[in-house]
Amino acid sequence: MANKYNFDQKIDRRKTHSYKWDVSQDEISLSIADTDFLVANEIQEAIISRSNDATYGYTFVPNEYYKAYIHWWKNRYGLDLKEEYFIFSTSVVASIDSIIKRISKVGDYISLFAPNYNVFFNCIENNNRKVLEIPFVYKDYQYSIDWDLFEKEVQKSKIFILCNPHNPIGIQFSENEIKRIVEICKKYNIYIISDEIHSDLDYNEKRYNPVLKFVDYEKAIMLVSPGKTFNLAGLHSSVIIIRDKDLRELIQKGVYEDDVGEPSYFSIEPVIAAYTKCEQYVNEENEYIKENRRILAEFLVKNDIKMKIISGFATYLLWIDISYYSNDSEAFTEELKRSAKIIVGSGKHYHEHYSSFIRINIATQKEIILQFCNRLLRFLKERE
Ligand SMILES: Cc1ncc(COP(=O)(O)O)c(C=O)c1O
Repeated sequence: MANKYNFDQKIDRRKTHSYKWDVSQDEISLSIADTDFLVANEIQEAIISRSNDATYGYTFVPNEYYKAYIHWWKNRYGLDLKEEYFIFSTSVVASIDSIIKRISKVGDYISLFAPNYNVFFNCIENNNRKVLEIPFVYKDYQYSIDWDLFEKEVQKSKIFILCNPHNPIGIQFSENEIKRIVEICKKYNIYIISDEIHSDLDYNEKRYNPVLKFVDYEKAIMLVSPGKTFNLAGLHSSVIIIRDKDLRELIQKGVYEDDVGEPSYFSIEPVIAAYTKCEQYVNEENEYIKENRRILAEFLVKNDIKMKIISGFATYLLWIDISYYSNDSEAFTEELKRSAKIIVGSGKHYHEHYSSFIRINIATQKEIILQFCNRLLRFLKERE
């Protein structure tokens, strides 16, 4: 079947006040986690139609908004949700920040796997809680969970933050792993905040497993948003999903107190369009990302570039072991920027221990992936 959407189409994002593309004309950016893809025309139409109202006053969240999420999670992932479980929030990070304040105290430990999305660390530390890292095992260029360590460490914490699928290492957690994580947290009465913002970005047929699907645990909180999948981060639209009524009321109150519970005029209709009309967009997007990864992986092998892609097949972020070339990812990425005009993420952002990794975002046009490959090769040759 012919593709409906054109992911090859280039957009000059430098003209759109984009954080990712706030770079000079000769630089290419594979850094910040949003895509360079045009949104689905169904979403664009929803925005244009809303814009045509020409009055942009305060807005509430209609039931159709939550119904759209329910439809998507049921159809795609077999998860049953009810409207009453939902709380609107302007962003996933704002939700995490607000939730931490409500269910933990100053000085409490909050645990997470490491490496992990760097902003979680800020959310913990800015609220004067303590980070408890539970490192993945890194062996033969693969990550896995050390279950004994997990159980030993997680019980010291008040909250466990899960990133499912995982940024930066791009893995899905299997059904068994999710069940085991939830069961261990339940055993020690630990809250789980599961950030599932990357849920739909999965290009290896191995569907992601929502934390609320398998084990009924009243302290499990799931956060999702269309921001990554549909390139809508700038609309500030996300949800918190909690089954337990008491916990939900506590968090809902917190979200209002923190003033992150009200949508913008454009937060609603585009999201309804995304979750009710754009499944094909996501399927084609995943295929496109998969092909970008294949191109890059083949290029590395063919040109004897000794960088190793570690990631699984989820998210559009690749976590790459560069230890053959450098153990100082800060210096390496700065050199890449200066000499090769390519901008990628430094592993050190994720912690000192990860200075022999870089993170690159491949949700861009094939043409840019090829430019990246050629510039990287030239850079490494000049460096020899
Ligand atoms: C795991 C994860 N959570 C949250 C965010 C940010 O989400 P939001 O813009 O909704 O705060 C990102 C962005 O990269 C992310 O990777």
